[in-house]
Amino acid sequence: MAEQQKGQWDGGRFLKTLAYFRVIPFIGNISWIQNLWGGGTKKRQEKPNIILVVGATGGVGKRVVQRLQQQGIKVRCLVRDANRARTLLGNTVELIEADLTIPQTLNSEIFQDITAIICCSGTKVQPVEGDTPNREKYYQGIKFYLPEVVDVPELVEYKGIQNLIYALPKTLRNAGEKILFDFTQPTEEIKEIWGALDDIVMGGISESSLKLTSDSAVFTGYVSTANSGGFVSVRTRNFEPPLNLSDYQGIELRVKGDGKRYKFIIRCNDGWDSVGYCYSFDTVYNIPITIRIPFDKLIPVFRAKTLQEGKPFNPNQVFSLQLMLSKFQYDGALNPKFEPGLFQLEIESIKAYGGNILPRFVQVSSAGVTRPGKPGLNLEEEPPAVRLNEQLGGILTWKLRGEDVIRSSGIPYTIIRPCALTEQPGGATLILAQGDTIKGQVSRDDIAELCIQALTQPKAFNTTFEVKAEQNSQGSENWNQLFSELKPD
Ligand SMILES: NC(=O)c1ccc[n+]([C@@H]2O[C@H](COP(=O)([O-])OP(=O)(O)OC[C@H]3O[C@@H](n4cnc5c(N)ncnc54)[C@H](OP(=O)(O)O)[C@@H]3O)[C@@H](O)[C@H]2O)c1
Repeated sequence: MAEQQKGQWDGGRFLKTLAYFRVIPFIGNISWIQNLWGGGTKKRQEKPNIILVVGATGGVGKRVVQRLQQQGIKVRCLVRDANRARTLLGNTVELIEADLTIPQTLNSEIFQDITAIICCSGTKVQPVEGDTPNREKYYQGIKFYLPEVVDVPELVEYKGIQNLIYALPKTLRNAGEKILFDFTQPTEEIKEIWGALDDIVMGGISESSLKLTSDSAVFTGYVSTANSGGFVSVRTRNFEPPLNLSDYQGIELRVKGDGKRYKFIIRCNDGWDSVGYCYSFDTVYNIPITIRIPFDKLIPVFRAKTLQEGKPFNPNQVFSLQLMLSKFQYDGALNPKFEPGLFQLEIESIKAYGGNILPRFVQVSSAGVTRPGKPGLNLEEEPPAVRLNEQLGGILTWKLRGEDVIRSSGIPYTIIRPCALTEQPGGATLILAQGDTIKGQVSRDDIAELCIQALTQPKAFNTTFEVKAEQNSQGSENWNQLFSELKPD
């Protein structure tokens, strides 16, 4: 578009701009932001936080489900037989039939709106046929019968876990981040949120927009210095309610630009013509880059003038975001990478980064997984699972392989290795250890609660640990303290 063709200020566009940002409030209220992040109005459609429980019909799994429900948390259960699960788990829980060993059954419906997974599946073990109560044996006071495996441990403990991990949506891997705009999946809401805010508001003739393609947003248009203009921008309307980003360290942009220098502006007040917190960033022609904008590097600016006495940015109340291409830097200095004419900044995503990383995948494994075949091990002193590992199809060996799949998956995890599980009521004092040497017992009740607690503990992030109960103990657990000594893998 030639500059002379565009030489006239467009009053209609000016009014449209003001209306869009509700400076003139004649556009009706649109509940766009509620649909994205939830908010404080009746119209809000908050995305449910759902925890997926795998192995929900098992001894630990059913206790996890029960406790989550008691805490008012939505639960989805992956089960092999929904009818059987219904009788065990009741009518109030969502069930989806699938089998870890059959990858085709692990479809995306299972993971819809899932924020975390607690996996308590395990190879079914039963007493050897013909083994009777009179042939019962004891290990550390626990009665057991000679066991045999019903399923193939390699398939359940290793391939099954691998199938599950492969099927997980990539969003579960985003650790410590909050995605504000994912332009790779454009929605109608995104279109409603972003509007152009160009120098037309000051008499200029530049014109820009945010165009959505199938997998990105493109901030593009034409910037002109005619009529003392020289800037284009796209800005969100005010978020209702504002976002609280105080748990994060900054904003991350994933962009592909044209070599020009752009500004990112974020506001912690709802005024239209108000202080913005700015950060300038350079793009590389046609190369995708990640820009990290720490909150403490944002400069308070009002109409391109820096405020020496300006308050620091407050991430508790974020009202709007803006991307700008301007002839000016700050305080009258020129942008050295500015050229009038066409421009293009492709944006893939805008995220908050640097939040606490919490586990999203909790795996119930077993103490002893590293012990079979370990040199110098006195098998006589080891629990039955270690002694009988070979007869049981290498169950512990395959559990360890399953653990390895989780550890190398990139998903934030906690691997819990209980000692011998009991049906005792919960509430014992728990002892956590790392290095796979401890022996003892722990109740399924306590393991269920430990799994749930791990999801809120930053210190549980990427850890593997064993757990047993202190003998004859009764204690109300201080969970922060319990997890505090853990070392990440
Ligand atoms: N017993 C112990 O002393 C001990 C000690 C340490 C660790 N562990 C481990 O702790 C975990 C929990 O123990 P638990 O006593 O709760 O186990 P459990 O009662 O045997 O439950 C196992 C669960 O896994 C499910 N499952 C098995 N194969 C599956 C597949 N292919 N696809 C989907 N689900 C499948 C079972 O479903 P179905 O109902 O359909 O069979 C069941 O819900 C297990 O991994 C166990 O090996 C046990």
